[in-house]
Amino acid sequence: MKTLFDLIVLLFCLAGYVCDLSISPTRPVSVDALVGSDVTLSVSHSGASQPVVTWFMEGVPIVIWTISDNTSPDVASDHSSVLHVDRNGSLTFRNVSLSCNGTYTVEVTKIGEMRVSATFDLFVYDFIKNVSLHTDPLEAIEGAPVLTFYYSTMQGDAREVWWSFNGIGLDNGPHYSINGKNLTINQPSRNDTGQYAVVLTNPFSSGTHYRNITVLYGPDMPVLMVSPTKAVFVSGDSLFLSCAAEGLPPPSATWIFSNRSIPASSGGTVNLTEVTTSQSGVYTCVLINQKTEIPSGEPLCSVQATNESPGLQFLCVWPGGVPEARLSFPGLRVNDSGERIFSITPNDTTSLNGEEIICKADHPLIQTQCSIIPRGPVDFLPVIFTNISQDEQTTVVVHCNTEASPEAVVHWFKDGHGLKDGSKYQISTNTSQLFIRDFNVNSTDLDIYTCTAINPLGSKTSNVTLLGPQISDSSIVLSDNRTEVTLKWNVPPTSIITGFDIQMKGPDLTVSSRSEFRTIQMMPGFTRTTNISGLEPKSSYFFRIIPQAGGNTGERSDEHRVQPDAGLESAVIAGITAPFSIILILIVLAFIYNGKCDRNPRRPISRAEEKVICQSAVNDPHRCPPPDYRLQPPERLTALPYVNTHVRRATTV
Ligand SMILES: *[C@@H]1O[C@H](CO)[C@@H](O)[C@H](O)[C@H]1NC(C)=O
Ligand SMILES: *[C@@H]1O[C@H](CO)[C@@H](O)[C@H](O)[C@H]1NC(C)=O
Ligand SMILES: *[C@@H]1O[C@H](CO)[C@@H](O)[C@H](O)[C@H]1NC(C)=O
Ligand SMILES: *[C@@H]1O[C@H](CO)[C@@H](O)[C@H](O)[C@H]1NC(C)=O
Ligand SMILES: *[C@@H]1O[C@H](CO)[C@@H](O)[C@H](O)[C@H]1NC(C)=O
Ligand SMILES: *[C@@H]1O[C@H](CO)[C@@H](O)[C@H](O)[C@H]1NC(C)=O
Ligand SMILES: *[C@@H]1O[C@H](CO)[C@@H](O)[C@H](O)[C@H]1NC(C)=O
Ligand SMILES: *[C@@H]1O[C@H](CO)[C@@H](O)[C@H](O)[C@H]1NC(C)=O
Ligand SMILES: *[C@@H]1O[C@H](CO)[C@@H](O)[C@H](O)[C@H]1NC(C)=O
Ligand SMILES: *[C@@H]1O[C@H](CO)[C@@H](O)[C@H](O)[C@H]1NC(C)=O
Ligand SMILES: *[C@@H]1O[C@H](CO)[C@@H](O)[C@H](O)[C@H]1NC(C)=O
Ligand SMILES: *[C@@H]1O[C@H](CO)[C@@H](O)[C@H](O)[C@H]1NC(C)=O
Repeated sequence: MKTLFDLIVLLFCLAGYVCDLSISPTRPVSVDALVGSDVTLSVSHSGASQPVVTWFMEGVPIVIWTISDNTSPDVASDHSSVLHVDRNGSLTFRNVSLSCNGTYTVEVTKIGEMRVSATFDLFVYDFIKNVSLHTDPLEAIEGAPVLTFYYSTMQGDAREVWWSFNGIGLDNGPHYSINGKNLTINQPSRNDTGQYAVVLTNPFSSGTHYRNITVLYGPDMPVLMVSPTKAVFVSGDSLFLSCAAEGLPPPSATWIFSNRSIPASSGGTVNLTEVTTSQSGVYTCVLINQKTEIPSGEPLCSVQATNESPGLQFLCVWPGGVPEARLSFPGLRVNDSGERIFSITPNDTTSLNGEEIICKADHPLIQTQCSIIPRGPVDFLPVIFTNISQDEQTTVVVHCNTEASPEAVVHWFKDGHGLKDGSKYQISTNTSQLFIRDFNVNSTDLDIYTCTAINPLGSKTSNVTLLGPQISDSSIVLSDNRTEVTLKWNVPPTSIITGFDIQMKGPDLTVSSRSEFRTIQMMPGFTRTTNISGLEPKSSYFFRIIPQAGGNTGERSDEHRVQPDAGLESAVIAGITAPFSIILILIVLAFIYNGKCDRNPRRPISRAEEKVICQSAVNDPHRCPPPDYRLQPPERLTALPYVNTHVRRATTV
């Protein structure tokens, strides 16, 4: 009856009646294939006479075919030699390669009506060849945080991986974790010594690799023996000391008495025959194995502030070595020690200000130490710098640097208000510098600023009253030959100054204006002295200094007068020096002319000015380069490798 029905349906379909489109398989199918073989992803469909069949690899179309006698499949060009499609829709790979591994979907479409699809997972495998097993670290050591095995193959991937230890299969758990190609042993111990194996299988092959692992350990706590067992020995007694401990590689013992080693047998025993009172004391046995190695460099001590009270953390860092050095801070009266990076946060820090804190670093082959002195901030004076940027903006930098350990954090205030890092105020990363941008001496920028430097051991506050441009004192010295003067001046330390105008009144070789001060030099804000040469010894000159801050002029200095000397002696001097001064002027003229910096060549000119003017052709000499506001972040401690203990010491009396 059923056959008859099917036949009827089929006849209807052949006659072009509407039928439901169907495909098989209807569920995803896994197909395993060996590299180089031919494999077919087999489908069949019904319900359409000339459907469109499309194959996708990972969603990308690779074959399209409207099945009929007079069309041929459209195959992606890079697959054309490999892929073949049957009329029933099946896709065949010839000489399949590893790159064909993936998910394939076929869609069958009845034009304009329906679409059905089927999915295949194609797993392409190669024969597994040459499995090998490695460990990280190379040497298995008891006490290391982990020991990782990982396998590799020269060819072929595994579908299943089986790990075993002494023939017993391993599973994920607290001691073992299996992840990808790795087997990780947490906290390996001597009990993990044995034979490990990894068995890799795929549908076409398998591979196994064995590895015997010896976990090194020890030396364990030594067992000390004194024979005979007596509390006290008297002169003339003989006794026997022994020292031994488990370990792999086996440790060897050395005995030390009053800082000298004493001969011992290879088994670690010492015979003391007919002892005398001078042999009373502490006998120390040191057990070392061949792996023993001093850490490199020196231990480093430091102290840092912590967020929690009481806020000081002492650090002692000396990584490396076998075994690692034992680090401790005996001065902090804390019965604790550590390795590599050892830190301690003492309860009471007040008594530590200014005390040298020592970290003892004990290694079987060397005892050494480092130290650090924690200190609260010490008194300091703020220092002011003034910079002009390229766009004529004045930035004032206040430095509040104080010595402190750990480094102090500086808080900034103006008029009792805390200053925050922003556009007007910038605070350096280490907080010790305040940058006041766009400083205007006419505004409230000129004010009292307060900086408070704090570390867990104390704080210090300093006020700085910024002053407008001003000269605190000035002086003039005339050279013996009376053709040159040296002007010197000082400014208050907190005065904001970006430059000085040096002005002169006196005979001028070109202009006959003797009655007005004229600017003859413009000096940058850091200068405190200048020379003016080429003066006429017989003439009278006045000099003064005008401090500047950005576009603002401060109060001028006193006027300094250089008087003509009417005396006979000075006339003689003048007579002798006159030709020299003319020569000097000529030289200067020639220089300026060549430099094309000629502004006012016939007046007296200083050497400092020559430089200033000639540089101005390139760059404005009064502008200092903008300061580098970027500061390096503090260095971090990097993670350090782990190494295990191989030495133990013990002491007997
Ligand atoms: C599809 O056709 C090919 C050859 O034409 C045949 O080998 C294969 O078995 C067919 N597949 C199905 C599912 O009918
Ligand atoms: C199979 O393909 C590989 C490259 O993928 C080629 O080296 C090899 O010659 C091919 N084998 C045959 C029989 O075509
Ligand atoms: C092979 O394809 C399968 C199915 O898409 C996928 O699960 C597997 O990760 C692929 N293997 C490789 C090695 O790409
Ligand atoms: C791989 O193993 C075979 C035998 O098992 C050996 O002859 C060959 O040298 C090995 N190749 C490598 C690269 O180790
Ligand atoms: C496997 O071990 C290696 C070496 O220890 C490590 O670099 C890698 O991250 C580990 N991979 C996984 C998946 O755990
Ligand atoms: C090793 O095994 C022994 C015996 O089972 C056990 O007593 C010892 O604690 C183990 N050692 C370690 C380091 O796990
Ligand atoms: C590894 O250990 C096993 C069992 O402990 C032993 O039979 C085998 O000879 C060892 N292999 C090597 C290479 O030492
Ligand atoms: C120490 O004395 C014991 C017996 O008294 C003897 O067996 C041993 O060889 C001696 N050892 C040494 C290092 O002299
Ligand atoms: C700090 O004080 C607490 C209790 O007063 C004590 O238990 C702890 O051991 C102290 N720690 C140190 C590092 O002195
Ligand atoms: C600053 O104030 C002085 C006098 O009060 C004035 O002469 C000068 O032009 C002002 N400068 C600026 C840049 O406002
Ligand atoms: C700083 O100035 C404020 C008032 O502006 C004053 O109260 C404080 O005592 C001064 N501090 C120092 C250290 O001079
Ligand atoms: C005058 O003396 C100054 C130094 O005192 C010297 O540099 C200069 O060359 C002298 N001038 C003449 C013209 O001798």
